[in-house]
Amino acid sequence: MRREGRALSFEEAANLLNRDVGTIAKTVQWLREKNLVEVEVRTSNLVSLGSEGQIYSADGLPERRLIEMLSEAGGVASIDELKKSLGEDVFQIGLIWAKKNQWINIESTGPQKSVKLIHYPGETSEEKLLKHLRERGVVEFEDLGEDLKKACMNLKTRQSVINIDEVKRYYVRLTDKALQIPEGELHIQEVTRLTKDMLTSGSWRQYRFSRFDISAPSKPIYAGKRHPLQRLIKIVKEIFVEMGFEEIRGPIVELAFWNFDALFQPQDHPARDMHDTFYLNYPSTGQLPENLVERIKDAHETGGSTGSLGWRYRWRREEADKLVLRTHTTATTIRYLAEHPDPPVKVFSVDRIYRNEKVDWKHLAEFHQIEGIVMDKNVCFRDLIGLIKEFYSRLGLKDVRFRPSYFPYTEPSAEAIVYLREKNTWLELIGMGIFRPEVTQPLNVKYPVLAWGGGLERLALALYNLEDIRTFYMNDLRWIRSIPSTYLDKKIGLS
Ligand code: PHE
Repeated sequence: MRREGRALSFEEAANLLNRDVGTIAKTVQWLREKNLVEVEVRTSNLVSLGSEGQIYSADGLPERRLIEMLSEAGGVASIDELKKSLGEDVFQIGLIWAKKNQWINIESTGPQKSVKLIHYPGETSEEKLLKHLRERGVVEFEDLGEDLKKACMNLKTRQSVINIDEVKRYYVRLTDKALQIPEGELHIQEVTRLTKDMLTSGSWRQYRFSRFDISAPSKPIYAGKRHPLQRLIKIVKEIFVEMGFEEIRGPIVELAFWNFDALFQPQDHPARDMHDTFYLNYPSTGQLPENLVERIKDAHETGGSTGSLGWRYRWRREEADKLVLRTHTTATTIRYLAEHPDPPVKVFSVDRIYRNEKVDWKHLAEFHQIEGIVMDKNVCFRDLIGLIKEFYSRLGLKDVRFRPSYFPYTEPSAEAIVYLREKNTWLELIGMGIFRPEVTQPLNVKYPVLAWGGGLERLALALYNLEDIRTFYMNDLRWIRSIPSTYLDKKIGLS
């Protein structure tokens, strides 16, 4: 085989070797790493007929048709006549260009306007180009002569007459190194795989084995991994477990009784409003825990035996047996507490809750809360503060502060805020407190219960440095792929 330095386009090479372009590209990549070929990108502009151009190349340009008609008519014709024989569109376009080319004049003879031929040119470069394109289909701009190039530029200004498309072509040529390889060595085959046959026949001796190039570019592989929000949930759960908590879960469809009443939220409390809470239509009510109904009623109406005066209104079971989508996971911890009134209790939940919110970048109608309670003989508010500090410090958030707050079910109440260095802001993390006697006594709970709860997504926003809370639910694969599975572990300092 003769060796020379002519560059071949990938397409040409594919044709010559009877392979597809992809195979050529792969092979070229191989040879390039061995410095045997070099690749050159050439951009070419391909010229072809557009939809109008197809018609013009067959029937003639509108301006040509116009002057032909004029010439046949003896040099002058009325606008109406021309319109009639050429059709409105061809006439209008033809008129504009013939006028521009100074082939015609428009004259008013009385009320009628007429068109007069003043110059009848031979074949123009534009017409030559159309003919050329009709014969050849597609041509390269660079291959055209100067006058046809100009014609291209002219016709380009007219709608759909010609198309000029820029395409990138890859060319491959041998390097000097390849050109100098001695004839004998050219036939040593390089193989990528050693086979059993090569071993038994001993033919492996004739081959040269390709080396792996681990730096060769390749397509990224997106391995399966947990969704970034699920990753955080997993870490949060692990931290709770490491701190000696047990996970609990509760129903998503919950009695208003557990969501509100057992938490000493009065029945006219604004949080119970339909605008804040989703109520179920079918079924709209559920079974109240009858053994507790009287006691909760007493707590609300008179304070029962707690020493409190209660809210002093008439408590109605018709409000309490309504079914809602739980608005907080405190419904789940209070339910658990009612079933486990004896110390010690140390449980958490990370689960979905629902609020009747208009969804925007800051709000979702369905999201997650982190929730926990600790009940034991000697626990106190300082323990609660310590627990919260410890919990968040394990999430890499060390600068946590507490400020007073209010919840109908806790006393004292506080909220924890954390400083975000990257955003230079304070973020509200959770509400917390010790359950009031009006909450614990009806459930026969005799010891202090430390309780806290707060949003998970807000925390996730801070950790993933995002602005829009909807990011977590949009299934934007590009974003999901962009977060390495180890992102949080690194961020938090776990690894
Ligand atoms: N349930 C409260 C909320 O949804 C948080 C909270 C839980 C506050 C437990 C005090 C005690 O914001």
